[in-house]
Amino acid sequence: MNSIFNTVGTISLITGIFALLLTIANRTIGNYGKVDITINKDKIYTVDGGDTLLSSLIENKVFIPSACGGKGSCGYCKVKIIEGGGPVLPTELGYLTDSDIKENIRLSCQCKVKENIKIEIPEEFLDVKEYLSSVEFIKDLTPSIKHLKLKLSSDEEINFKPGQYVQLKAPKYKGNNEEVFRAYSIVSSPYDKKHIELAIGYVPEGICTTYVHNFLKVKDKAVFNGPYGDFYYHDNQREMIFVAVGTGMAPIVSILHHLRENNISRKATFYFGARNVEDLFFLDEMKSFEENLYDFKFIPCLSRANEEDGWNGEKGRVTNVLEKYLDNIDNIEAYLCGSPVMIDSVVKILKDKGLPEELIYYDKFE
Ligand SMILES: Cc1cc2nc3c(=O)[nH]c(=O)nc-3n(C[C@H](O)[C@H](O)[C@H](O)COP(=O)(O)OP(=O)(O)OC[C@H]3O[C@@H](n4cnc5c(N)ncnc54)[C@H](O)[C@@H]3O)c2cc1C
Ligand code: FES
Repeated sequence: MNSIFNTVGTISLITGIFALLLTIANRTIGNYGKVDITINKDKIYTVDGGDTLLSSLIENKVFIPSACGGKGSCGYCKVKIIEGGGPVLPTELGYLTDSDIKENIRLSCQCKVKENIKIEIPEEFLDVKEYLSSVEFIKDLTPSIKHLKLKLSSDEEINFKPGQYVQLKAPKYKGNNEEVFRAYSIVSSPYDKKHIELAIGYVPEGICTTYVHNFLKVKDKAVFNGPYGDFYYHDNQREMIFVAVGTGMAPIVSILHHLRENNISRKATFYFGARNVEDLFFLDEMKSFEENLYDFKFIPCLSRANEEDGWNGEKGRVTNVLEKYLDNIDNIEAYLCGSPVMIDSVVKILKDKGLPEELIYYDKFE
């Protein structure tokens, strides 16, 4: 009997010592105290150490692009670390080029702030703000795409370049225990500074799209930050080629608003890919752009047109239709938006035809 008590006592003692050691470790190793993040040499934020650089910056309202919400799967949250930050982590390697590594570019969502850290970010990131808005309308564009109009609070205005995107916050909701931010391109005109409109496709089991499609209602509050992105309208006299699939149409529509509101006289053709007739949207807007813009043509094409739809427009993949019509790439520039697979194929087609890479702008909706 004594030996049973001794064994139980020894196990309890060992467990107790482990628990004590863990508590001490949590309070010491995991406690980095207050540390300073210095941005672009002159802005200093003091934060509690231990969190990721991305989270620590967001807490201080410094917004770095982060399309995957910090999961380390988009590669958007790169910053240059001048001092501190520790060694590059295996989770960053897939998104860093050799030259990134040489220049100490890191994924801010992966490296933790455990010591004073000095970073360099583009000045425009410091202009990114968080906005509180309310839902003015939310309606179906197609069975799987919602059109969302957000009204900014009365004292706010947003300035963005046509083509840029914002990050919308999905709060916790039934079935989702985490707050996430996801990237959505702005559909609306950059001249309406009191609203933004978005086109959001449903992704089965997607956190943010489930929130938008199943929970968000008119008059609800919505938080977003932005604007972000280097996919935007370039002002010159080249002919413009737009290629998009699905919600990739969104930033192109904003660019078309910009052309119309500024009476810009540039030839433009928009190749748009969808599966079938019910996946087409903004057709009235496209008609109106055709009627009002200097020289604009909208060419929708369907990859899975149903017989009963009586579709007599273009059929097949958008890449095939682009190849069919685009024979002369002299003096053009291209704007591509949508799935990474589509964009890679179109970039290849355009480069094979001789269009220099620097005249191909794209946003991959990863
Ligand atoms: C610059 C940029 C602009 C964007 N603009 C738009 C836009 O205007 N409209 C829009 O609808 N989306 C846009 N996206 C995509 C958007 O940011 C989200 O990735 C998408 O809405 C899914 O978010 P979620 O939280 O619902 O899914 P998550 O919870 O992030 O993902 C759930 C699961 O679905 C997978 N998944 C994620 N996205 C897709 C997808 N598109 N197709 C299939 N599987 C997927 C994920 O790998 C994961 O397994 C944009 C992305 C980027 C990077
Ligand atoms: S936020 Fe997507 S990789 Fe860091």
